[in-house]
Amino acid sequence: MTESTENNQIAVKVEGISKKFGAAVVLENINFEVKEGETIVLLGASGSGKTTILRILAGLETPDSGRVILHGKDVTNLPARMRGVGVIFQSYALFPKMTVEQNIGYGLRLRGKPKTEIKEITNGLIELTGLEEHRKKHPSQLSGGQQQRVAIARALAYNPEVLLFDEPFGALDAQIRTRLRREIRALLKEIKVPSIFITHDQEEALELGDRIAVLNQGRLEQIGTPFDVYNKPATEYVATFLGAANLLLGIINGQNFEAEDIFLKIEDDINVRDGQSVKLVFRPEDVFLRKPENLTQNYQQLTDGFVEEVNFVGAFERVVVRLNISNRQPIIVTRPKTETTAFPLEIGQRVTIGLVRFRILPNYTLASERASRVV
Ligand SMILES: Nc1ncnc2c1ncn2[C@@H]1O[C@H](COP(=O)(O)OP(=O)(O)O)[C@@H](O)[C@H]1O
Ligand SMILES: [Mg+2]
Repeated sequence: MTESTENNQIAVKVEGISKKFGAAVVLENINFEVKEGETIVLLGASGSGKTTILRILAGLETPDSGRVILHGKDVTNLPARMRGVGVIFQSYALFPKMTVEQNIGYGLRLRGKPKTEIKEITNGLIELTGLEEHRKKHPSQLSGGQQQRVAIARALAYNPEVLLFDEPFGALDAQIRTRLRREIRALLKEIKVPSIFITHDQEEALELGDRIAVLNQGRLEQIGTPFDVYNKPATEYVATFLGAANLLLGIINGQNFEAEDIFLKIEDDINVRDGQSVKLVFRPEDVFLRKPENLTQNYQQLTDGFVEEVNFVGAFERVVVRLNISNRQPIIVTRPKTETTAFPLEIGQRVTIGLVRFRILPNYTLASERASRVV
């Protein structure tokens, strides 16, 4: 174990934050914590309230109710500059006419720190962020990744209690984003400053977050490790927002999911009543297709179906299978190359469908039912 008890201390606590703009409810009772050294990713569609949470944390916006606690201290009513929060925005907002070291030291000069101290802190941060050979350059002479490191170093100069990132890769293309998020992940692990990173990009969230908080229209739907939110989504929204998901309506009968002649034994702990209407949720990559005569015991059988479409999509094959039930519902299946080589499929072929992994979710159809859910 490398984790010390200190790592489990709470650095940031967001307690019951709600916010309206006029009549529009933008945040509803938001609660979460960030541990020492941890990176939390706030993931949500555009307009879900991510930036508003960040602005409230930074002291740029006041919540209608709730509290923000940094290292045990209630800062809800403190102005931004007294909070010890470092914010990194989308554009990095570096000063174009200043060199790297001037950018990093800017805030310290503004605060009237002595020259020797500014020099010392700046040198330390330049070394930490690996910018030694670029210290005399201007932002326009730097790559995207280097600019990002300058922005982080500048935010770190204040010795912040928490770093906040508001979609810093928003405007960049996919390849650069992938590289930058690996760099930032490595840097965050090294500096160990607790951080909150917001994005609408699920891949980014899965790769960057120690934990992910999924935001849907101002409400936190689930918070958990990337593994848990992906594999054990708590709501249909989370299941469908983080990757593709197949959904099948059914009911609970004892420890089974039932839909027509489909019976699946449920091994997870689930929070649903006998007889309750539920949704079976499973990911395209958690489906195994087999010839009906080649059943194996490693997974549960869903039902039979017919191959309707087979598409090659680079690293894997995407298959549409119509289930052999009365509504002939289609499901999406993805198969890796090892599978497609061992068992090539043809249109119209009959297959047996096995599930490696699945989830059972309550079938809330009405917003009012959802709202009255006991939390
Ligand atoms: N100052 C404001 N005045 C009025 N409405 C706002 C203001 N700031 C944000 N909103 C609204 O609040 C909602 C959430 O916005 P925001 O937090 O920026 O979402 P996100 O960052 O997830 O895209 C949006 O509907 C947005 O239009
Ligand atoms: Mg935003």
